[in-house]
This record gives sequence, C-alpha cells and structure tokens, in this order.
Amino acid sequence: MLANYKKKIDYAKIPKHIAIIMDGNGRWAKKRGLPRIEGHRRGAEVIERCMDSAIELGIGVVSLYAFSTENWARPKEEINGLWKLLESFFEKKLSTIIEKGVRIQHSGSLSELPPTIQRIIANAVDKSKNNTTIVLNFCLNYGGRHEIIHAVNNWLQQRPSHELSLTPEIFENYLYTAGLPNVDLLIRTSGEYRISNFLLWQIAYAELIFMKVLWPDFNERYLYQAIYEYQHRERRFGGL
Ligand code: FPP
Repeated sequence: MLANYKKKIDYAKIPKHIAIIMDGNGRWAKKRGLPRIEGHRRGAEVIERCMDSAIELGIGVVSLYAFSTENWARPKEEINGLWKLLESFFEKKLSTIIEKGVRIQHSGSLSELPPTIQRIIANAVDKSKNNTTIVLNFCLNYGGRHEIIHAVNNWLQQRPSHELSLTPEIFENYLYTAGLPNVDLLIRTSGEYRISNFLLWQIAYAELIFMKVLWPDFNERYLYQAIYEYQHRERRFGGL
C-alpha cells in the first residue's frame, strides 16, 4: 500500500505546510484498557516516523497540535503526564532531530507552561535555529483565537507610526507563524470533524482531510494517503 502511494504521488505538488490535529490518543488507550497517558506516549512515538516521511517528501513545515489553550481543563494528572512525556521526548530525541536538520519552532503562549517545559522548548528552538531541512512547528498552549488577539495587541504596541491600519500582510508578521507559509493541508485523525481552534488564520485556504485512524495508529501510509488525496482536490483559492 505504502509503495503504491509512493509511486502515485506527484513529487512536484507536495504541500509546503501540513498541520496535524493528533486526535484519538485517549480512545486508543481506552480500547486497550490502558491509562490515557499510554495513548499519548504512543502518539509521541508516531511523531518521529512522521517527521522522517515529511523530510523524505520534501514538506517544508509540519505544525503539530500538542496542547491547546483548552486542554488545561483536563485532569491535572493527565496534564502533568503530558509534560513528563514532553520532557523525555526532547531528552531522548533532540540530538537526532537536530542531526536530521529539523528546525523546531514553537507556537503558543510559553509563559503559562511549567518552567522546565519553557526551558526545554527554548533550548530546542535555540539549538536547532540554523537547521533548514524542515520546520517542526510545535503548537503548545496554542489557541487560534488567542493567537489572533495576541498578534493585534502586539501590533498595537509595536507598530511604526506610519502604519495606521492592519493589512493581512502586516498582520501575518505578528502571528506565531510569522515567516512560515500558510497551511496547504490540515489532517485531523480519529474521525472528528472539527478545527478546534487550530491555526484559524493560516488554514483559510487549506484542504481539510479527516481520517478515521486514531493518532497512535497513524503511520507513513496515512500521511502518503492524505497527500495523494490532497493532490486530487481542486484548489481554486476563491477563483474559477
Ligand atoms: C488529543 O487526543 C491529543 C492531545 C490533546 C495531545 C497530543 C499529544 C501528543 C500526541 C503527544 C505529545 C507530544 C510529545 C512530543 C510529548 P485526546 O487525548 O483528546 O484523545 P481522545 O479524544 O480519544 O480522548
């Protein structure tokens, strides 16, 4: 199946920016009688394989929704488990990530995160800042509405006096994703049909692909399948 997709894909039409809502970890764990954090653990493992395929495909940016501004409503135990997972992920994988040429970027509000997590993210961003193979945009404590308000407030505070009003081009420079291309393809796993406050501005013309697979079961084949489907959509950007 994977080999088939590899043959069918048009390598001249690879999306520049893919965003992924990694949903279904809890259900994956529940189905197996495991604690929810086991689903997240398996989910974290999927990330590395996906990044390898994304590099192979020549994708420029992968944005991952790892923790939303709404996820604080989860039980403390699950939230703390996620921070531990993140810690061990970067402890184990950062050097490999850097060797592979991945530039880590963070989108979201860092200051509310535990100090250790803030340090880990800042360190990963700094150590990988000269990498150019691919950008891994890690969305942590991220919310699309919050990002938009944050961008407007930043512009109000920083704008040069000749800028009397915002334009889309100016506005984009104040988003967490400043400098990155807009999203071409958004994938959500687990069969839910929602955007859940993810990259609201950046997905304006993205193709949306919803897949039934739960995130811990996601693999290269699903990524290639999503790209194949994306390549068969007609993108008109409002034109004819
Ligand atoms: C949604 O599934 C998933 C999350 C809220 C967290 C996503 C996090 C990871 C995949 C791992 C974190 C990454 C690293 C690098 C440590 P859900 O819990 O809402 O699943 P459910 O809808 O089935 O309950």
